[in-house]
Amino acid sequence: MKLMIINGPNLNLLGKREPEVYGSTTFEDYFKTLQKKFPQVELAYFQSNIEGELIGKIQEVGFSFDGIILNAAAYTHTSVGIGDAVKAVTTPVIEVHISNTHKREEYRHVSYISPGAKGVILGFGLQSYDLAIQSFLS
Ligand code: DQA
Repeated sequence: MKLMIINGPNLNLLGKREPEVYGSTTFEDYFKTLQKKFPQVELAYFQSNIEGELIGKIQEVGFSFDGIILNAAAYTHTSVGIGDAVKAVTTPVIEVHISNTHKREEYRHVSYISPGAKGVILGFGLQSYDLAIQSFLS
């Protein structure tokens, strides 16, 4: 099983960025934990702060991988282009968020990703990614 984790803007700063919201672990460290926990899964990881690069990666893997786990971060709430890319590909996409976006500012309650996603997992901290992988395995 080949799964691609795609993280959007500012998620390269996990560990330093608003630790009270996003925790103090870097994604690189957490990615190693996921690789150890799911040795049967071929996990790949991509992060970009640039909308077009995120769309490019979704298109690149979206016809061959078994799943995409997408945290589009702030673009979740603004990007028609990423939402369209999610709908365009055949690989199922699970939308994840570290925080419970519905408990936060109103502008975070809207998602352009959800209408094309297979499912949404949010509010479990970094464990949201783990739960998304489990959902592909079940
Ligand atoms: C986020 C929530 C978004 O609203 C925010 O812009 C992020 C991270 C999350 O994982 O909780 O950058 O996607």
